[in-house]
Amino acid sequence: MAAHRFATTLSLTTALSLGAPFLGLATACTASEGAVAAETVPGGVKAPPAGDTVGAPGVGDPDFPQDGNGGYDVDHYGLKLSYDPASKRLEGSAAIRARAVQDLTAFDLDLHGLTVSRVTVDGAAAQFGRREDELTVTAPARIKNGTRFDVTVDYAGVPDPVRNYAGLGTYGFIATTDGSFVTCEPNGAKTWFPSNDHPSDKATYDFKITVPEGLTAIANGEMDAQPKTSDGKTTFAWREKHPMATYLATMTTGKFEVRTGTSDLGIPVYAAVDPAFHGSLDNLYTASAKITDYWTTVFGPYPFSSTGGVVDNYSAGYALENQTKPVYGGFTPDTGIIAHELAHQWFGDSVSITRWKDLWLNEGFATYAEWLWSEHRGGQTADALFRSYYANNLDPIWSYPPGRAQRADLFNGSVYTRGAMTLHALRKEIGDATFFALLKKWTAAHRYGNATTEEFVALAEHMSGKKLDGLFDAWLYQPRRPAPVT
Ligand code: TRP
Ligand code: ZN
Repeated sequence: MAAHRFATTLSLTTALSLGAPFLGLATACTASEGAVAAETVPGGVKAPPAGDTVGAPGVGDPDFPQDGNGGYDVDHYGLKLSYDPASKRLEGSAAIRARAVQDLTAFDLDLHGLTVSRVTVDGAAAQFGRREDELTVTAPARIKNGTRFDVTVDYAGVPDPVRNYAGLGTYGFIATTDGSFVTCEPNGAKTWFPSNDHPSDKATYDFKITVPEGLTAIANGEMDAQPKTSDGKTTFAWREKHPMATYLATMTTGKFEVRTGTSDLGIPVYAAVDPAFHGSLDNLYTASAKITDYWTTVFGPYPFSSTGGVVDNYSAGYALENQTKPVYGGFTPDTGIIAHELAHQWFGDSVSITRWKDLWLNEGFATYAEWLWSEHRGGQTADALFRSYYANNLDPIWSYPPGRAQRADLFNGSVYTRGAMTLHALRKEIGDATFFALLKKWTAAHRYGNATTEEFVALAEHMSGKKLDGLFDAWLYQPRRPAPVT
């Protein structure tokens, strides 16, 4: 989906006439094209590269150099998946439509474990190899820069989730007693489908998921058709038609009680709970509908075609903002966390980060949304919450600058709390009218795309007419508590 991403980035940049640098994938493309070593001929025209031109094994995220891949950009994943909870075996066939951003004789997909039986490129059988979490595909014919190509990968096996990579616990495809719990941030999509597993490459998806009859398969977006049952198995067809980062994709399966309907503002709602959480279904449904509607008044139009949530009885103890379907792992969510996960639909899911360093653009914003929700429902105000955090000068958030989320401690509390405090400090500096207009402008300008902190700072400066580099530097980048906000 690079075309979309570059278009939104460019229109904002042009509107502001700032020429803000676009980092991340653009940088990665340049680097991998560099590896092609195109010859410069007299007159400055580049001759086409002669030899092999291999897509880089990483997309160029400085903190996660193996994640994602270079040389192409995925438009669409068509995933056919069949899961058997008794044997824990997953059978998959992935149809990936991509566009080359350099000439390609070979390229990588990210895939962790699982056995690949067959790969095709544009219908022709392709040779492939495995090394660590990279699946390297040799193109049967050279793929020209700028052309679309179709890859299919057939694979099967018992998925192995990512365990304790960079201290992040267990994530990815996790087997449960009755199915699967699938939460993939930051790079666990590769545990269940071959992908360009980095948020800078968003794509649309369709899922056909087959499970034993009696179980429900839940993925992103909406169901195309009624589930079909034959031979004791049921197939669910889901489609996410808006661009989505790989880590937000899910195939959560098992026994579920489901409630569907529409919110007061007419947004379709799908809520599901494991039977162990029977008593939570109505509140999950009602709160998700009401909060999604409320956020449209604060953040702008809802970016997707449905909202909702899933409570599974796997005791992850955390939630993840899976696109259209936040998943809550083994607890009854209160409205605070529902407000957080649904705020992510705007901040993280529709407007996605370009590199993991900028994670405060997700977690700082979703945490600030929790504060706004608290104030809205008559609890503590955002200002009171800001002040109580500020008052604790021994809080470890002061030594961790949230604007540079660290690989070894990506989800540090500072990224959440001090990220939210950054937004409150900004709000005090530019005033409520400009601040809330900025939130709506931000979600509109980068809708379905990717963005960076530099772009947020530039937009805030543009809309307020103020120089804000001192404020953002103190709040995002310094390892000490900033001066008090007045
Ligand atoms: N993004 C989640 C939240 O704050 C937290 C999270 C990070 C997570 N990594 C995860 C959840 C992996 C599930 C799996 O809302
Ligand atoms: Zn979050």
